[in-house]
Amino acid sequence: MSSKKIGIGIIGTGSIARHHLKSVQELSNCEIIAMASSSKKRAAKAEKEFGIKIYDSYQKLLKNDAVDAVIICTYSGNHLAPALAAAKRGKHILVEKPIEITIKRANKIIAACKKVGVKLSVIFQNRFSPDYIKLKKAVREGQLGKLILGNAYIKWSRDANYYQSSNWKGTIKGDGGAALINQGIHTIDLLIDIMGEVDSVFGKTRTVKHTIEGEDLGLAILTFKNSALGTIEGSTAVTPGYPERLEIYGTQGSVILEAGKIVGWNTDDKKRKNNKSKKEYGSGSADPLAMKHKLHKAQISDFVNAIQKDKTPLVDGIQGRKSLALIKGIYKSAEKGKEIKFK
Ligand SMILES: NC(=O)c1ccc[n+]([C@@H]2O[C@H](COP(=O)([O-])OP(=O)(O)OC[C@H]3O[C@@H](n4cnc5c(N)ncnc54)[C@H](O)[C@@H]3O)[C@@H](O)[C@H]2O)c1
Repeated sequence: MSSKKIGIGIIGTGSIARHHLKSVQELSNCEIIAMASSSKKRAAKAEKEFGIKIYDSYQKLLKNDAVDAVIICTYSGNHLAPALAAAKRGKHILVEKPIEITIKRANKIIAACKKVGVKLSVIFQNRFSPDYIKLKKAVREGQLGKLILGNAYIKWSRDANYYQSSNWKGTIKGDGGAALINQGIHTIDLLIDIMGEVDSVFGKTRTVKHTIEGEDLGLAILTFKNSALGTIEGSTAVTPGYPERLEIYGTQGSVILEAGKIVGWNTDDKKRKNNKSKKEYGSGSADPLAMKHKLHKAQISDFVNAIQKDKTPLVDGIQGRKSLALIKGIYKSAEKGKEIKFK
């Protein structure tokens, strides 16, 4: 066990990297060493903005011995190369969601980290929302009875500019798809974290509004291994965009979260009914930048703690791969027009 501050390097200087930098700078169990960008020009611009050392390639950052762990904030289809390079150098890895855009690539990251014995965690910051934690505890304690139905609704809005201003969002090579794999994945992760393993899925996807390769509307009917049923409705094409909802129903009660906050609590434990968190974490329903960084900070702290105490982070590689596997199943089902069974 070590209480040494963990030196962090952040790979990527785009929008989410800012949340990570702010979080690391606020935490006492770690410190920022440097960041890495993909070109000299971008590095110089970022160095001016952030006031810390920015390397012009992640390979240079990885050579810095003060960096114990990296946070990978490159675009989704570019998580594999920096992850493999970081593992090779013995750096612990916290990677933004999705872990990667295919299961094969995700497996390579998981195997590389296992081989050299570094910690791997995948960002799913909503797992750290206090109201979600209350819901999970209530389900595990059996307060809702036997689970019968779970719904994830992510009816968000993104404008044309959101996709046009980036060369990877909504593309198959950079994003792996669109509304489900990029935006919906957070609530899909929570849904399966609560409901358990998925047995089969029937999915339909459409690109109804945006000029993108991936889907901007995706639906799925799920059968869980515990025989409960579920649905997913994810979009970036609705107007004006609504806070995402997670609805969990058991034989004895139900709980509904909206933008990570309890809006419905109906179990025998009446005390918890009014026990909602007062904190606001923001929802990306219409504006991706509206989200606050507090939940990222909680997950980074968990990751650093796992390194210091040699524990498994809350969302390890196997946990982080589950939502990707389900979303890939939805895409496959939509393509083949039939139900897909998981092993
Ligand atoms: N957890 C969340 O809520 C959340 C929110 C937004 C984005 N994300 C995830 O974060 C990742 C980045 O998204 P973003 O919105 O910040 O994208 P972005 O386009 O704003 O930034 C991507 C950054 O990666 C950099 N980059 C690409 N290749 C690189 C390389 N080889 N070396 C160094 N830098 C490189 C780009 O220059 C850019 O700065 C994606 O995987 C996305 O899914 C997560």
